[in-house]
Amino acid sequence: LRVLSVASEVFPFIKTGGLADVAGALPIALKSAGIETRTLLPAYPSVKAKVGEGEVVCRFSDLLSAEAVIRAVSAEGLDLLLLDAPTLFDREGGPYITPGGYDHPDNWKRFAALSLAGARIAQGAIEGYEPDILHAHDWQGALAPAYLAMAGERRAKTVLTIHNLAFQGNYPKAIFPELGFPKEAWSIEGLEYYGNVGFLKAGIHAADRVTTVSPTYAREILTPSGGMGLDGLLRGRGDAVKGIVNGIDIEAWNPARDALIEAPFSLDDLDERQKNRAALAAEFELEAEAGPILAIVSRLTWQKGLDVVAEVADAIVERGARLVIVGTGEPMIEGAFEALRVRHPGKVGVRVTYDEALSHRVQAGADAILIPSRFEPCGLTQLYGLRYGCIPVVSRVGGLADTVIDANHAALQKGAATGLVFDRPEPDAILASIDRLIELFAKPAEWASLQKAAMTSDVSWTTSAALYANLYKDLTKDPTP
Ligand code: ADP
Ligand code: GLC
Repeated sequence: LRVLSVASEVFPFIKTGGLADVAGALPIALKSAGIETRTLLPAYPSVKAKVGEGEVVCRFSDLLSAEAVIRAVSAEGLDLLLLDAPTLFDREGGPYITPGGYDHPDNWKRFAALSLAGARIAQGAIEGYEPDILHAHDWQGALAPAYLAMAGERRAKTVLTIHNLAFQGNYPKAIFPELGFPKEAWSIEGLEYYGNVGFLKAGIHAADRVTTVSPTYAREILTPSGGMGLDGLLRGRGDAVKGIVNGIDIEAWNPARDALIEAPFSLDDLDERQKNRAALAAEFELEAEAGPILAIVSRLTWQKGLDVVAEVADAIVERGARLVIVGTGEPMIEGAFEALRVRHPGKVGVRVTYDEALSHRVQAGADAILIPSRFEPCGLTQLYGLRYGCIPVVSRVGGLADTVIDANHAALQKGAATGLVFDRPEPDAILASIDRLIELFAKPAEWASLQKAAMTSDVSWTTSAALYANLYKDLTKDPTP
């Protein structure tokens, strides 16, 4: 079975968040199920610098009025198809933002072009390559199923995965004529969304199947409070909407063989973990104290509930925990954490940066990782935490609810508990969890049981890759488009 994956970021080539991790790891996990994936990704300058020029396998003279070639290149176990359209992608800044931090003004065109290229490849634009499935990710790939739907019945089947419903790709009506859709596509059945063009909306409507990255989030987005305006459309898709929880790359994230950390460790030699803890404390200039080191590695945003942490951080520190915070995001939250560090020398360490290697050192050295998200489609940092014995302290939403087992009485007795789960990302609930954390941390036997259950949790892709494989296989058997 051949799958064409369409994604705007893919680890280890370009990453701003969890989407890249998933788009990079899933194809590799699917290989053993006999599924060959090729991944269409924009040829951002940094990506070309990493993987080289590749071989030109097709040319588009008019991709939404841009000239483009597709370059095939294999790297890091992935077969990439790079969309090289210099007017769209050969520029400074991140994949979505300018060096000054604003959205590229033509993002709609850049990712409509990515989607259109995906649809054309699915229709045979590359000689000798006919994918059975086009799998698009997020709003940046979401028009691909819509473009392909225009190809009629004999076409590849389409899957759209929603990693985050908050990012919908909504643009003014004025861009509609430039997208190359027929006039009829300006309708509720097509691209129109409350008077605008809705990329994600169009994809949800057009894709044969819609998946999201955890079963709980799949239920939440069907409700008005979780649906961000799209719940009605999603409910209308009925059984076509499914939740499949993300895994992680357990080789890249393997504490026993992690070259990025001070001292590799496993469940059998947890004492080695102490060396990473000491190194982390030294790196962040934390005083030696009895309480747990609580970490945050995250985009610093409202979604992640970190404005609430900023409110209660003094109280957390006063209870005897120390904080290590790594992240970038909303200037208000960045500023609040910087000020916190100044108020609590030796107790709070903050790095306003995006640093992959540092994120490994934090997971290996901190005692717990705090993720108080308001909503969380899946979340990956709790999975890294489980694998590294860095106990997740999370709110009960989305994928966090699906992957962390709360240390309640029964779960502790069974040795099943892997973390702490609280109901709402609100000050009282967070502080109550921190109290429980400090209490558990002070009981070596219970703490060891938590770490053991965490580190033996299955966070690999094995189970979920099989679910994607079945989804693809069912779809190719499905005669109706
Ligand atoms: P989201 O995609 O919503 O940001 P996820 O938990 O799914 O949340 O994925 C975030 C990914 O980005 C994880 O791999 C995490 O380790 C990484 N990450 C987030 N912030 C940073 C940072 N400041 N430095 C390094 N890695 C980070
Ligand atoms: C999104 C979500 C996050 C999820 C990631 C990968 O960025 O915010 O919860 O883990 O995508 O699917």
